[in-house]
Amino acid sequence: MTVDAETIRYRAATGDTPAAVDLLDQTRIPAELERLVCESLPELHDAIVRLVVRGAPAIGIAAAYGVTLAPVDSSASPEPASPEDVRRCYYDAIEYLATSRPTAVNLFWALDRMRGIVEASTDETIGDLPQRLIDEATAIHDEDRSMCRAMGKHGATLLGDCQTVLTHCNAGGLATSQYGTALSPIYYLHEKGHTLNVFADETRPLMQGSRLTAWELSQAGVPVTVCIDSMAGSLMQRGLVDAVIVGSDRIAENGDVANKIGTYPLAVLARYHDVPFYVVAPTNTFDLELASGDLIPIEQRSEDEMRYTLGADSNVHTKGRMAVPREASVINPAFDVTPADLVTAIVTEQGVIKQPTREKVQQHFAAIQTPAS
Ligand code: MRU
Repeated sequence: MTVDAETIRYRAATGDTPAAVDLLDQTRIPAELERLVCESLPELHDAIVRLVVRGAPAIGIAAAYGVTLAPVDSSASPEPASPEDVRRCYYDAIEYLATSRPTAVNLFWALDRMRGIVEASTDETIGDLPQRLIDEATAIHDEDRSMCRAMGKHGATLLGDCQTVLTHCNAGGLATSQYGTALSPIYYLHEKGHTLNVFADETRPLMQGSRLTAWELSQAGVPVTVCIDSMAGSLMQRGLVDAVIVGSDRIAENGDVANKIGTYPLAVLARYHDVPFYVVAPTNTFDLELASGDLIPIEQRSEDEMRYTLGADSNVHTKGRMAVPREASVINPAFDVTPADLVTAIVTEQGVIKQPTREKVQQHFAAIQTPAS
């Protein structure tokens, strides 16, 4: 995102003011630009569950900062907490935050890094642990910025001949630290003078495409046209889409990709119409412990997200009109899995994996571990 509306800010404790994770409230965009300041773990956990902060990398960054809100000093005892108690308090915070959303692996990746810092503390260095945790969360945040930029550069090499691309959900600056994953190549090209036209799927039921992607691209001066999710086939049939580009919440070792529900049918349509289907995600979105996409846990969200239209001011948590009769059942999985075979290329901060397979994903990671001299 190139507007002055940072998704996540960290407020360090000063005097009587406690530390806080300060979030741009994504449930209210585009009607209102409001921030939600979370000073406690339950507030931050709830903000992740309610999608105040959402998008795989942003969830990881917010949770990393969230660990620093663990109530280590709130013991009723006048005695200072023992090193063991301090560590237990942080481990509990990590476990609690890990229960917020199940699909985006970036959450667990970021929490693992924070756990590593707690594990590395000794009784002698325990006093430094709070600052070390803040430093680690800040590093995760900063690294995401440079990874997004690198994905933009690599992804741009695939879109050079395109005029119009279609995207689904929101994989932009709002979903990350800055620039985004799938939107980063679009911003990169825009800065270089090649402005693409973007079709943004509405992305029912929570409208991340029409509310968030359309908002942030417009702020950046990139022309965006919102289309209902079921329109993608007709747009491709009419030759109006040069490429589909999406983010991901988790990629299995064989290259199968989990992303917002509705991504898989887009990939099928793209294959039928001979349109390239690109996935852009940092390497921390890969879960190499999962052999294939059918092992990726898929979040099931509240029925109410479908039973009611969005409430006043596009607030996704204020119930609007009834949209489904009470007698009917609804089913609301938040993500689906696209088989690797339908993916033209996966772009990471390290480069491009064309026609991904298990072997190519393994080679991509092996090259990171042993960089060419
Ligand atoms: O439920 P959400 O809004 O968190 O879903 C987000 C997505 O599906 C994004 O496409 C994905 O996290 C990639 S974001 C860089």
